[in-house]
Amino acid sequence: MALALYGCANQTTSFDEIVANRRSVRSYDKTQKVSEEQVRTLIATTQEAPSWGAYDAGLSNAFLVLKAKEMGFDTLIMGLRDADGLKKALGIPSDETVMTVVALGYGNQVPKRPDRKPLDEIMKIK
Ligand SMILES: Cc1cc2nc3c(=O)[nH]c(=O)nc-3n(C[C@H](O)[C@H](O)[C@H](O)COP(=O)(O)O)c2cc1C
Repeated sequence: MALALYGCANQTTSFDEIVANRRSVRSYDKTQKVSEEQVRTLIATTQEAPSWGAYDAGLSNAFLVLKAKEMGFDTLIMGLRDADGLKKALGIPSDETVMTVVALGYGNQVPKRPDRKPLDEIMKIK
């Protein structure tokens, strides 16, 4: 039996679209909550990032913000905030290091894309 689903085109978003549409969002819709299951899905993807020393946090953050965008969320990487306060609030052991804080939610603004340097200023091909 053949099943045709008219009007149900595959809604996958290309990697380039995710990269192009991701922005650092600094204002969120407080009425739309993120579920624990969604956070688990997101963190499971960040665990797939390559890990070696100092690169780890940045790489996993990159995976996180892009996967979050694919899932329909917005994000803001905020670097380090009150590490001791966060450890206390979340029960993180004192010998762990808090590297970054990332806001996650449904943004209620669409920020303008900050300019990037021209490619030839940041790369050399000989
Ligand atoms: C390590 C790190 C720390 C950041 N900290 C802040 C922050 O404290 N406040 C903020 O508004 N944006 C912060 N940002 C976001 C950058 O400002 C943002 O990525 C940059 O303006 C480019 O904008 P875009 O992400 O929309 O492309 C941070 C980004 C990184 C990678």
